[in-house]
Amino acid sequence: MLEHLTEQPADKILMLMQAYKSDPRTDKIDLGVGVYKDPKGVTPVMRAVKAAEQKIWETQESKSYTSLAGEPMYIEGMIKLVLNGAVARERISGVTTPGGTGAIRQAFELIKKATPQATVWVSNPTWPNHLSILKYLDMRHTAYTYFDTATRDVDFDGMMADLANVKAGDVVLLHGCCHNPTGANLTLEQWKEVVALLKAKGAVPMIDIAYQGFGDGLDADAQATRLVAAGVDECIIAASCSKNFGIYRERTGALMTIARDEAQAKLAQGMLQFLNRQNFSFPPDHGARIVATILNDDALRADWEAELEEVRNTMLGLRTQLANELRRLTNTDRFDFIAKHRGMFSQIGTTPEKVEQMRADSGIYMVSDSRMNIAGLNVETVPLLAEAIVKAGV
Ligand code: LMR
Repeated sequence: MLEHLTEQPADKILMLMQAYKSDPRTDKIDLGVGVYKDPKGVTPVMRAVKAAEQKIWETQESKSYTSLAGEPMYIEGMIKLVLNGAVARERISGVTTPGGTGAIRQAFELIKKATPQATVWVSNPTWPNHLSILKYLDMRHTAYTYFDTATRDVDFDGMMADLANVKAGDVVLLHGCCHNPTGANLTLEQWKEVVALLKAKGAVPMIDIAYQGFGDGLDADAQATRLVAAGVDECIIAASCSKNFGIYRERTGALMTIARDEAQAKLAQGMLQFLNRQNFSFPPDHGARIVATILNDDALRADWEAELEEVRNTMLGLRTQLANELRRLTNTDRFDFIAKHRGMFSQIGTTPEKVEQMRADSGIYMVSDSRMNIAGLNVETVPLLAEAIVKAGV
């Protein structure tokens, strides 16, 4: 049997993680996988997470199954965190999923079940695993223009021109904030135009929100998602707690749908739970319980928000430092976009060859599409990266 298997293409982000590990150089810089690192290069367990884990350890009396949807306090907490009342509660369905990726996978399966003929539109570029899962599920998909490699901003006219071709029932996947991989985001005014277009077309927006709190703040980063959710009849939201709670390996995500009315929301809830049952049965609980504990305890929540702000401001500081350094070295404002981008990533918009040159010459690991994880830097390494960028002729 096993001889019939074929080798699968390696994920470029995961491949890079491996290559970085096996590089013996001590001055190498890891700007690959989207994991937050503090200035010492450590991915810390957040204070509130530690405290919540202790509380759970002290009070939890059973590890029996929860429910197919997962812990209700977690779902309610996530609905509030992401949507904050933008949509009537009875129109919303939600389940716990194994990470944001689990939510995306379940969302695609739900789309396939409901409208197998639908095309899923993804931004060009997008997180590579979006495409990989769509291919794996054999779903129709196509790309819409998103990034302008000259300005390193959103090519909004190109995007709207492409989205003018969506058909009723098609699904348009949007990054709620902190676009991965580019770091370039729509303004709220542009979001309003997208909502109007999708509504006019009868298309369904699907929002991937994996970096809430990493861009402009917890509420600011959810504004676009809330605007979309409030502005359309139906919507799908895949949320992740991996980054903003720093609980990557706990696999904690949530899939939410917004239906036209309560009756359809019930149908959706049933399907979400059915999909959980088919794929893995009960969702993992530990991370979800940590999140629920934090969101429901004023002191823990305040501490979590404060630490998340520290993380966000550290990344913003690194962005400004890098943009300034490149301004100084090049005597141009060509790299000012780095300070304008938001979230963990910026795509500097260069060729895989130049990315490879920076790896070979300077030990800098960024994804071949020239995505760099800003959190992989610190005040000492920013000048080294700036020099490498200039040396490679980016
Ligand atoms: C990333 O984009 O680097 C993260 O979302 C991690 C991953 O699973 O790819």
